[in-house]
Amino acid sequence: MIKVAPSLLAADMGNLRQAVIDLEKAGADYLHLDVMDGAFVPNISFGAGVIKALRPHTNMFFDVHLMVDEPGRYLQDFAAAGADLLCVHYEACRHLNRVIQQIRALDKKAAVALNPATPVSVLEDILPDLDMVLIMSVNPGFGGQSFIEGSIAKIERLASMIQNAGLDIDIEVDGGIVAANAARVKAAGANVLVSGTGILGQSDYAAAISAIRG
Ligand code: DX5
Ligand code: ZN
Repeated sequence: MIKVAPSLLAADMGNLRQAVIDLEKAGADYLHLDVMDGAFVPNISFGAGVIKALRPHTNMFFDVHLMVDEPGRYLQDFAAAGADLLCVHYEACRHLNRVIQQIRALDKKAAVALNPATPVSVLEDILPDLDMVLIMSVNPGFGGQSFIEGSIAKIERLASMIQNAGLDIDIEVDGGIVAANAARVKAAGANVLVSGTGILGQSDYAAAISAIRG
């Protein structure tokens, strides 16, 4: 089943509550929340306080993408703020297995994100412990960048790795997703599609979400 996850990064930062209400009404499955620390990525967005403040205004699944160095330091805060899934970057964790165990202990869904230059093979030993893998199809840090074409083959490699291991793990793709490339991303094996400007940059959110869902 395909899930569409609008990224709040592309919303009007002065009116996040309304954006959340509008996206839920427009049929979004997940709300993708991009947390940036200004160290792992060259940008700062928002933290657990903002997520906590938005939680009472929606029932959407909170898909929290932590672009943060050593995210183990903050997992408790994001879980308490209302995250449903915590996604950490492979490149940001010295002890990835421990971080995934911490997410499990908090009773949240666990995901690992890979930067464009990181091969899927690094996940071989952690795969059975994950609910989802996030393939970054842009370099993390900013919305509105162009989709990196090599991500399609990377999604295909991950999909066969998951299938060969007999696992059932979601594949999320994030960065530069618009209606025009969504079909190829899904055909490659992705089932959770993040889109920031591809949805929030459009006047009709519901139409943009259904065009991406297909
Ligand atoms: C980038 C973020 C993305 C971003 C996507 O670092 O992880 O979630 O908001 O924005 P678009 O869809 O505009 O590329
Ligand atoms: Zn993201």
